[in-house]
Amino acid sequence: MRIFSGIRPTGELHIGNYLGAIRQWLELQEKNECLFCIVDLHAITTPFSPDRLQQNIIKLATAYLATGLNPEKSIIFVQSQIKEHAELAWLLGSFTPLGELRRMTQFKEKTKRHPEHVNAGLLNYPLLMAADILLYQTEAVPVGKDQQQHVELTRQIARNFNKKFGEVFKIPKVLLSEGQKIMSLQNPRKKMSKTDDPRGCIDLFEEPAEIQKKVMAAVTDPGKKIKYQPERQPGISNLLTIYSLFSGKSIKFLEKKFENKGYEAFKKSLIKVLIDALEPFRKKQKELSSREVYVREILQQGRKRAEVIAQSTITEVKKKMGLIL
Ligand code: AMP
Ligand code: TRP
Repeated sequence: MRIFSGIRPTGELHIGNYLGAIRQWLELQEKNECLFCIVDLHAITTPFSPDRLQQNIIKLATAYLATGLNPEKSIIFVQSQIKEHAELAWLLGSFTPLGELRRMTQFKEKTKRHPEHVNAGLLNYPLLMAADILLYQTEAVPVGKDQQQHVELTRQIARNFNKKFGEVFKIPKVLLSEGQKIMSLQNPRKKMSKTDDPRGCIDLFEEPAEIQKKVMAAVTDPGKKIKYQPERQPGISNLLTIYSLFSGKSIKFLEKKFENKGYEAFKKSLIKVLIDALEPFRKKQKELSSREVYVREILQQGRKRAEVIAQSTITEVKKKMGLIL
């Protein structure tokens, strides 16, 4: 299968990104043709600093490599280096109803949260995401649950195009992972996010002392039971999910193991699991952070490989739409 996914270079990667996205990518790259993108054109739809964007792009590429994405197997590249992404987004927008974009949950949430930054880029965000996916004749898109609606819209856009202008696009399906929604450690009813309270968010390369501090301070629920009940006990349920995914132990097993142990013992054990699981990533990231030339070289190779596919699709699209080539 051809697979496509991406993350915005907006700062540090957190364990939600890893569990919701990258963990799945690592498995997928073994048996599929994968493209993993650094979606910088999406990152600029929310406030950003031009001085730091380059650095964040390289940092994210380094993080991809540090977690085990393999440039020999997968195509790793930067979205803005391939102009066909923006070009196709424009073409898709020319026949996509405004109402479809306005009803997107992410658009509604972001405009509500930052009424002072409602730009057209935020509205058009799903068109660019559809372009990312459709340019490569993608068959499956592994993402966290928050992005499912955008992939569904992508399917709709692809069908609309094929019907209106003739068959070009494959209809991609969404692949949701188990860690589809990791919640903030400070507010377990909100998803873990880089842009919210940093104490609620564990960085993928976080130092052990910080991991310890954040987990010990994580909000739990009234009562002492260590039970997976996301509605009644969102705090402890979120910690159980994290524990389970990083340790490979089932939630049932963990509930039994900590049955009469209380929150403190559970948290101490979780800290150990997290420190051990993240240690190899931290090491590799340190090593790669002094090899920027190598990282840039990988992005160049990725760019060359991706470009060939992108150009071939856009040519097809423009032909079908009657644009002069
Ligand atoms: P973003 O940081 O918003 O660009 O997200 C990159 C990827 O990580 C997407 O596939 C998201 O669905 C996923 N993701 C982001 N936050 C979380 C979270 N708290 N839990 C699970 N997946 C997440
Ligand atoms: N919108 C996604 C997010 O915020 C990132 C993204 C951009 C993406 N283009 C994509 C994910 C294409 C999958 C496929 O997480």
